[in-house]
Amino acid sequence: MQICYINGSFENKSDALISVEDRGFNFSDGVYEVMSFSEEVLINFKKHLDRLKRSLKELRIRSPFKNFKSLELIIKKLIQLNKVHSGYIYLQITRGTAPRNHLFPRSISPNLVIFTFSIKKDDNLIKKGVGIGLTKDKRWQRCDIKAISLLPNLLEKQNAFENGFYEIWQIRNNHITEGSTSNAFIINSRDEIQTHSKNNLILGGVARDSTLEIAKKKKIKVIEKPFTVSNLENCKEAFLTSTTVGILPVVEVENKKINSGKPGLITKMLIKGYNDYIYSQINE
Ligand code: PDD
Repeated sequence: MQICYINGSFENKSDALISVEDRGFNFSDGVYEVMSFSEEVLINFKKHLDRLKRSLKELRIRSPFKNFKSLELIIKKLIQLNKVHSGYIYLQITRGTAPRNHLFPRSISPNLVIFTFSIKKDDNLIKKGVGIGLTKDKRWQRCDIKAISLLPNLLEKQNAFENGFYEIWQIRNNHITEGSTSNAFIINSRDEIQTHSKNNLILGGVARDSTLEIAKKKKIKVIEKPFTVSNLENCKEAFLTSTTVGILPVVEVENKKINSGKPGLITKMLIKGYNDYIYSQINE
């Protein structure tokens, strides 16, 4: 039996109800977060919380919490009720329920849903790396908001899967922005980690920020500047990051090999650093 949290109570996932007039359901008018937890410890919780607050503010959605202290307690209780030690949290806040009208309703309470989920990890992806495809970035210009409207991402991810790629990297004005579900990085000819600057054209990933912090500690140079398709084709190494997969080496782009099709040394060093960084939070 799986328990979720919905608008103030813990309920069986199969019994939980949301109105057909929920604005998330009708308009994708909401925000979300995906967090990981290990041994019941929430990883990078503050970073996720900061991004959640920002997404709410940017979309002018009321927060369901007076202060966010209660959120941590709710999530911890949810983890205990589900008797899971490691996994992921999906949290969604929509503007609320109201008769369908594009304009924001005057007084409305947000709808909050939180549930846990798990993903089967495939160690081969880390060991061998993944292949990616390339596509035009067809999304809006506020990709920095973690909004629940994800249709372009879904379509591109599905196309990538059907073409045998693990992920798809998106191109805007000849520069790579990010993947459909992850951030994109190369190791350039100067041995720097290069990734798109954190602006309205990408989601500022929590795993991205953590990876860059780790890199700086390891004295690897970081340059936050978009790279071109040609930079990518000629790079020394490439990798992607997200909360759900951590850091994954990218060894092929559109079937052309990077680093002779093998995960690179800097990528491997970062993967180790990332694992240590997670363990340090568990043992804090
Ligand atoms: N997606 N860019 C996009 C477009 C994403 O959807 C995600 C994550 C990321 C990485 O963000 P983070 O490091 O905070 O996970 C970047 C999540 C995992 C999802 O939608 O399931």
